[in-house]
Amino acid sequence: MEKLSVPLGERSYGIYVEKGLLDSIPALLEEMWRDAMIVLVTDSRVNTIYGEKLARRFLEEGREVQVIEVPEGERSKTLTWAKTIYDRLISLHADRTTLMLALGGGVVGDLTGFAAATFMRGIPYIQIPTTLLAQVDSSVGGKTAVNHPRGKNIIGAFYQPKAVFIDTSVLSSLPEREFLSGMAEVVKYGVIRDSDFFYYVRDNLHAILNKEGGPLTQVVMKSCSIKAEVVAEDEKETGLRTILNFGHSVGHAVESLKGYEGLKHGECVSIGMACAARVSVELGLCPRGDAEELISLLESMGLPTKLPELDPEDVIAAFALDKKVMYGKMRLVLIEGLGKVVIKEGVGEDLLRRCLSA
Ligand SMILES: NC(=O)c1ccc[n+]([C@@H]2O[C@H](COP(=O)([O-])OP(=O)(O)OC[C@H]3O[C@@H](n4cnc5c(N)ncnc54)[C@H](O)[C@@H]3O)[C@@H](O)[C@H]2O)c1
Repeated sequence: MEKLSVPLGERSYGIYVEKGLLDSIPALLEEMWRDAMIVLVTDSRVNTIYGEKLARRFLEEGREVQVIEVPEGERSKTLTWAKTIYDRLISLHADRTTLMLALGGGVVGDLTGFAAATFMRGIPYIQIPTTLLAQVDSSVGGKTAVNHPRGKNIIGAFYQPKAVFIDTSVLSSLPEREFLSGMAEVVKYGVIRDSDFFYYVRDNLHAILNKEGGPLTQVVMKSCSIKAEVVAEDEKETGLRTILNFGHSVGHAVESLKGYEGLKHGECVSIGMACAARVSVELGLCPRGDAEELISLLESMGLPTKLPELDPEDVIAAFALDKKVMYGKMRLVLIEGLGKVVIKEGVGEDLLRRCLSA
């Protein structure tokens, strides 16, 4: 089993990566969590494919787990569903020693983490991500949230999990479009921090998209290690962590205008990264060739790089609610070249409008 750690003092935790890891989870929890009541939160689709099997594995080891199932998709990331989880926890007489397991994609991870952060002022939880996006991004770093109808992830908390268990074999059942959505975040890590990794992904794309063991594990491990490194330096996003938002300002605006359903998170991030690359070139920050490399890699996977039928004015207006706006000024993560980003304040609306319409 491969192991990485997120060094955050008393909130430090390990990220464990192994093909087939799901089967070992009951044994892995035996030592530290032997007496804890276990509550598994999952979505309807993941429950059918993996949740029921995991619950059976626990039973085989002589432990019962309580399962809370939420509907699949972004519509579950609401205060209403958080309340449903609190209601179940109360009926189960859960207390501060109860351990929650988040088995699913970013939606289940964010919702479960938020419920764990707020129930009784915080109970422990473990992330068991089952989408590529969750394995390389959302399960690591402790950002938890639910959406408000007027803004994505507006209600949330920084609350670190106790561990992250990644079983790459579950990606075999993931629909192609979901896998590609996660690939947008993978590309992001190369662009913000490590050009060698960017080129590794470009040069091994076929093997990665075919989910070949070695390259896939490499992609998950490298992405998690970049995220862990950034989070360790700036847990609560007062500085460096902002670079992880590369492509996310436009991405979140598009996602909220589309009502969270039309486009996948990674697809919106892909549109946002392409737009940020164009802005970077226009401002003379980034060589045109690097921006083209990025856009061409995204397009070679079939990821969108242009605004869907949306008015650029609406996208700019949606920025107002974005958490990346500070003191009323819009901040954008831009690129200076592959592997290097810079945070810019006060990017002109005209320029943005032009790049959004490109
Ligand atoms: N907390 C963070 O740092 C962070 C970072 C990035 C994204 N996010 C959030 O993550 C969410 C998106 O996550 P997502 O893309 O994982 O979406 P998701 O959780 O909705 O999962 C996508 C779909 O895949 C299905 N699925 C999950 N695993 C599967 C598997 N192994 N096999 C078959 N089907 C499977 C799910 O049932 C769902 O229908 C967004 O809400 C976004 O805001 C959070």
